[in-house]
Amino acid sequence: MGLGSRHEVYQDGIEKVHAPWAELVGVCDSNPGRVERARRRSAQNGAPVPPGYAAEEFGRMLQERRPDIVIVTTVDAAHHEYLIGAMEAGCDVITEKPMTIDAEKCGWILEVRRRTGRRCRVAFNYRYSPPRSQVKDILMSGEIGEVLSVDFHWLLNTHHGADYFRRWHAQKKYSGGLFVHKATHHFDLVNWWLGAVPTSVMATAKREFYTPEMAHRRGLTGAHERCLTCPEQDRCGFYLDLAASPYLKALYLDCEGHDGYFRDGCVFRGEIDIEDTMNALITYDTGATLSYSLNAFNAWEGCTVAFNGTKGRLEHTIVESVYINGVEAVQGGVAPDGVKIRVIPLRGIGREIEPWSAAGDHGGGDRVMLEDIFLPAQAADKYLRAADERAGACSILVGIAANRSLETGARVRLTDLIPAVPRPDYAPMPARNGILPMPVRSI
Ligand SMILES: NC(=O)c1ccc[n+]([C@@H]2O[C@H](COP(=O)([O-])OP(=O)(O)OC[C@H]3O[C@@H](n4cnc5c(N)ncnc54)[C@H](O)[C@@H]3O)[C@@H](O)[C@H]2O)c1
Repeated sequence: MGLGSRHEVYQDGIEKVHAPWAELVGVCDSNPGRVERARRRSAQNGAPVPPGYAAEEFGRMLQERRPDIVIVTTVDAAHHEYLIGAMEAGCDVITEKPMTIDAEKCGWILEVRRRTGRRCRVAFNYRYSPPRSQVKDILMSGEIGEVLSVDFHWLLNTHHGADYFRRWHAQKKYSGGLFVHKATHHFDLVNWWLGAVPTSVMATAKREFYTPEMAHRRGLTGAHERCLTCPEQDRCGFYLDLAASPYLKALYLDCEGHDGYFRDGCVFRGEIDIEDTMNALITYDTGATLSYSLNAFNAWEGCTVAFNGTKGRLEHTIVESVYINGVEAVQGGVAPDGVKIRVIPLRGIGREIEPWSAAGDHGGGDRVMLEDIFLPAQAADKYLRAADERAGACSILVGIAANRSLETGARVRLTDLIPAVPRPDYAPMPARNGILPMPVRSI
């Protein structure tokens, strides 16, 4: 369900890698051009060509094709419709992140999941990228003790970051803004790394780079509607030529006639209502605190995260490769020597740790996640990386609370949004308030 660029990870995973035990039995999208394109892709993959359905035929598809699992990869604001419809029809579901974009829809998904007893999985691929699993491994080992606070900063550069301002993501009614759409990855990582449930959020944010005023400051006459018809294509460093990329042309430009959606909106246009600079202070039920920032116009792409524990500090940095979704072969790949992991005891010499690595999209995370989803028999996962609707809720509720905090200027408790925030399953972490023998050597 939803046949844009992200869908292809699942289609190719099913048809090229996991074909012996998985089959794509139907494809559905609101855009008939992308339905036909997905069917052609099956033929190219040498797989049986599935029947295609329009969005309003979703119920008929479930009846006729009787899938075991429905995979939802539409725009964020539509996830809930298909998750709920599929679970009501007796299917298990897998949804792309974010699970949904507001508290009301989140509540509906939780209620239907509980009532139907179906399985709902949220595809948090970042958990599976080897260095992030390694961070979890170090935290579980107890080497830095109990984590009392975290500093987490995510940077998007002006290739990838700008892309959110061209597409449907640029309006909160479709994406929930970057606090939901993008930061759901980061809030899920911290929740899972700490084995904790977030309890409150205080946020500030602004949009100061992707604005009509910035177009003027960069020497343009102003913002325009889209790149394709822009009179200043040669002068704008953000020009995206959809026609020059056979991939983007086929997936988006050639499909515009069906629904009028274009993927190359001007990054400076006035109708954008998401922020490009965000900060949040978050508390957890363990007592831990998180200082978080997300910036979408940076000089490099990746993250720095530091965990301050009762026995030491764990620092982790990833510098990711530049990409525009759907253009480059490796999405979110890691730059050479871009990963650093360091542990520094409270009193002692720090040490660099050789990072775990894997090839492929999203730092190798996509391949490992697809194996976890599709391989029939697997060993138990000591990190409990498979996430369900509870983890999906705990991550988006942080972003939704941040959005509310922006409106009210106040700290927002997650229980103000959903009265009982469900506790996900987490692997055991070092006990809080355990006895801590002090090192003998004093300072
Ligand atoms: N996990 C990751 O790292 C990752 C990476 C990229 C995208 N995503 C997620 O995947 C999803 C899709 O993103 P994308 O980049 O493929 O976007 P996209 O714009 O390429 O594709 C979205 C598709 O949804 C369809 N659609 C829109 N509204 C619909 C509706 N009401 N009903 C049915 N279909 C509808 C569109 O026609 C389009 O084919 C998003 O939720 C996004 O957050 C996740």
